[in-house]
Amino acid sequence: MIPFARPGDSWKAHRQAIEGALHRVLDSGRYILGPEVEAFEREFAAACGSPFAIGVGSGTDALHLALRALGIGAGDEVIVPSHTAVATIAAVEMAGAIPVFADIEAATFTLDPARVDEACGPKTKAILAVHLYGQPADLDRLGAIARSRGLLLIEDCAQAHGARHRNLTVGSIGDAGCFSFYPTKNLGAFGDGGLVCARESAVASRIRELREYGWRERYHSATTGFNSRLDELQAAILREKLPRLGADTAERQRQAAVYLHELDGTGVGLPRVRPGTSHVFHLFVVRSADREGLKRHLQSKGIGAAIHYPLPVHLQDAYRGRVRGGEALPESERACREILSLPLFPGLTEGEQQTVIDAVKSFRA
Ligand SMILES: Cc1ncc(COP(=O)(O)O)c(C=O)c1O
Repeated sequence: MIPFARPGDSWKAHRQAIEGALHRVLDSGRYILGPEVEAFEREFAAACGSPFAIGVGSGTDALHLALRALGIGAGDEVIVPSHTAVATIAAVEMAGAIPVFADIEAATFTLDPARVDEACGPKTKAILAVHLYGQPADLDRLGAIARSRGLLLIEDCAQAHGARHRNLTVGSIGDAGCFSFYPTKNLGAFGDGGLVCARESAVASRIRELREYGWRERYHSATTGFNSRLDELQAAILREKLPRLGADTAERQRQAAVYLHELDGTGVGLPRVRPGTSHVFHLFVVRSADREGLKRHLQSKGIGAAIHYPLPVHLQDAYRGRVRGGEALPESERACREILSLPLFPGLTEGEQQTVIDAVKSFRA
């Protein structure tokens, strides 16, 4: 079986370094918010080109706490895509704010700035741009809308570690950049983890308070807060993996180039990279008018192609009919009918990738 992702590969590839990191933490006796988290925050901030980075418990919490720290809450509207992980929308509601859907661009699966502009109203406070599949959203145009309307721009970078928009790394461009270290992500821990990059020191301080009971100093809550801490073991593992992110990304981009070349002309719709950006191919997502047929065909050949995501958020039971903007999202609905993620990850062998290519080519051949 060739899965669409194989997070255990990174453990096998870097076993020694990771074991060293685990022993370092276990021997230290510090397991929560200690020197490993502090060092990782510094190293991640430097890699991202952001002045502040704050480790938290998950990508969902990164979004939730960033929204709160930026002052977004009850009655405030946040423009979001529906074609994303449900966590993006869940985080907006966790902050007490109101998500409003806007449709995506067909070519890039990211927010369509024209639709975002239409969705803005007097209560809109922020645009939450998701860099889906590893492709930066159109930050030039979304940034221009945010500036002209006085809105905050928040980046959901859960799938886009290290992706670049012009000469900047995603996460350092908006008012906050929110990352997930879920094990299958481009930079993955061996458990849950997340991080916020912030531009302003006051926002960073607020997130540090919110992640630990609202404490400004130990045992003294300045405000009400939460418990959402990155632990030392995950931070130490991430410190081992961060210097390898560039090489892993290059390998993802190499595999994507092979697919783009080999699958050209086979009838499946191939991903396009927005000019001026680098796509880090968290997922390699193709389109097919007969997606279910293609998926069954690949499965019959032992290939675990997956669908990200099978149902847009506005059509899920928890959200259907109650979130504004959900009435008119034709591109989001079409994407969910047509998309299929092919296996792509560091550790996928050339032979395995060739098996996938041959299988796609033999579909209806
Ligand atoms: C686009 C997007 N946003 C947010 C999240 C939430 O991250 P986490 O699972 O770490 O809470 C994920 C990952 O699941 C994601 O893919």
